[in-house]
Amino acid sequence: MSDAPRRMKPEDLRSRKWFDNPDNPGMTALYLERYVNFGITPEELRSGKPIIGIAQTGSDLSPCNRHHLELAKRVREGIVAAGGVAFEFPCHPIQETGKRPTACLDRNLSYLSLVEVLYGYFLDGVVLLTGCDKTMPACLMAAATVNIPAISLNVGPMLNGYWGKKLSGSGTVVWEARERHATGEIDYDEFMDIVGSSAPSVGHCNTMGTASTMNALAEALGMSLPGSAAIPAPYRERGQAAYRTGRRIVDMVWEDLKPSDIMTREAFENVIVANAAIGGSTNAPIHINAIAKHIGVELDNDDWERIGFEIPLLVNMQPAGHWLGEEYFRAGGLPAVLAELIDAGKIHEGAITANGKSIGENCRGKHTWNREVIYEYNAPLVASAGFLNLKGTMFDSAIMKTCVISKEFHDRFLSNPDDPMAFEGKVAVFDGPEDYHKRLDDPALGIDEHTILIMRGAGPIGYPGAAEVVNMHPPTELLRRNVHALPCIGDGRQSGTSGSPSILNASPEAAAGGGLALLQTGDRIRIDLKKRTADILLPPEELEQRRADLAARGGYAYPASQTPWQEIQRSMVDQLDQGMVLKPAVKFQ
Ligand code: FES
Ligand code: MG
Repeated sequence: MSDAPRRMKPEDLRSRKWFDNPDNPGMTALYLERYVNFGITPEELRSGKPIIGIAQTGSDLSPCNRHHLELAKRVREGIVAAGGVAFEFPCHPIQETGKRPTACLDRNLSYLSLVEVLYGYFLDGVVLLTGCDKTMPACLMAAATVNIPAISLNVGPMLNGYWGKKLSGSGTVVWEARERHATGEIDYDEFMDIVGSSAPSVGHCNTMGTASTMNALAEALGMSLPGSAAIPAPYRERGQAAYRTGRRIVDMVWEDLKPSDIMTREAFENVIVANAAIGGSTNAPIHINAIAKHIGVELDNDDWERIGFEIPLLVNMQPAGHWLGEEYFRAGGLPAVLAELIDAGKIHEGAITANGKSIGENCRGKHTWNREVIYEYNAPLVASAGFLNLKGTMFDSAIMKTCVISKEFHDRFLSNPDDPMAFEGKVAVFDGPEDYHKRLDDPALGIDEHTILIMRGAGPIGYPGAAEVVNMHPPTELLRRNVHALPCIGDGRQSGTSGSPSILNASPEAAAGGGLALLQTGDRIRIDLKKRTADILLPPEELEQRRADLAARGGYAYPASQTPWQEIQRSMVDQLDQGMVLKPAVKFQ
């Protein structure tokens, strides 16, 4: 418990407006009458106890978060032990591996519905049960908008997966196995078995994919208890963290410690630094920029490059490294990583966190128990693990994680001694994932080992929610000849479990008038990582002509919406560099 003073008195609690409002006895009676019908006493609702929501994101439809159905019991016990009253309620499910066309479509829907719950009901504070990729941003975006005391609790990663003696990491094993399947080395059933081996228990992905990333970043942001993000889902420490989180939110209500006190510009800068050091997902800038927008903090992809690019990779975890979630937790988890970053002077130590202490107080000096898993800042796994922010005639912003560039990729594309940071090539253009799957092996595209693959029509409007499809593998013929990586550029996203050095999240997307819409298969483009540019090698007049032709055709064509929400979101969604937020939602900070 923190020593922070109580700033709230029982009569100031938000919930009193519902359950104890002498100015409006009619409404008070109406509110009270129904909430006692399942056994809660009027005393609990009226005697000045904080009423705490438990935002339940787990369900049978959300297997990554399903263990929260158990953890919520410990959260509830913590709330009650600290003198609060707990109300658990369901959130719209967002299962990364279950929702079509993509779970990211539902991040903003879940956000909207949670805002309505937090604003419209009698909650004095909320515990946000996070896990699978988009559940953390949806929850934190809503907490930012409503700005009532809030704390997040991760469900935790699954135990390590094994295929034989080999570690089998969520998602990452899919990218490996699909190549072996494409070349006929393994059959369909073996493919299913290998991928299945990576999911041995309850919990979210055990790699440093988007879920491990986002929950580590919730902790770096200060929105969850220190040391809680990395605990594997089945470990006893997970239940203990749930109990302590429940206890803590009650004090946060009394201290009136709100998201806007925690999610400051300094806290977001800490997040950018932490993301590079853990080898975090390329989805992070999208979701973190979105949370920042909803709390009213300026943050953009230039910040990600300026603050994060040169931060080294310290965590040796798949997909950038070797280990999985259990080793990472045992090595010390995020506090040990932050301790390295604090010693290197890279963290704003004064940023306040959910436990009422600063991040420096929480993490300075935290021990690393295994140097094969968490490296020293001065002897890192890889230098410069952050993102570059590229710009040019293809887009205004697209990010690239250069630290995952393989030797093969480097030798083929970045080995010109006169110009080692730049490459040029002709492109093969695909309009969405279906087109890519259909035509990849078509010899008419002329794809060879120097081709650059372009994926467009995969952004928030073109493919509602933005597809995770930019990490494309080469045609079968090239895979057979041991060509495993071609540069990929696209206006979609990439799975956080993929280690591909793609240029992605291109904004504006083709469907919003971005330069990718002007490309044709066979065009040449140039990427200069030193100058941070990405350009189409065509004369300006030719580009203008193509733009005019495109406009005459009514713009870049994309498939019709299949559901009302797809249509609604497409009409008001911002681009990936802007966090893919709903534009009208941003004014409610
Ligand atoms: Fe849910 Fe990875 S699919 S965490
Ligand atoms: Mg994903």
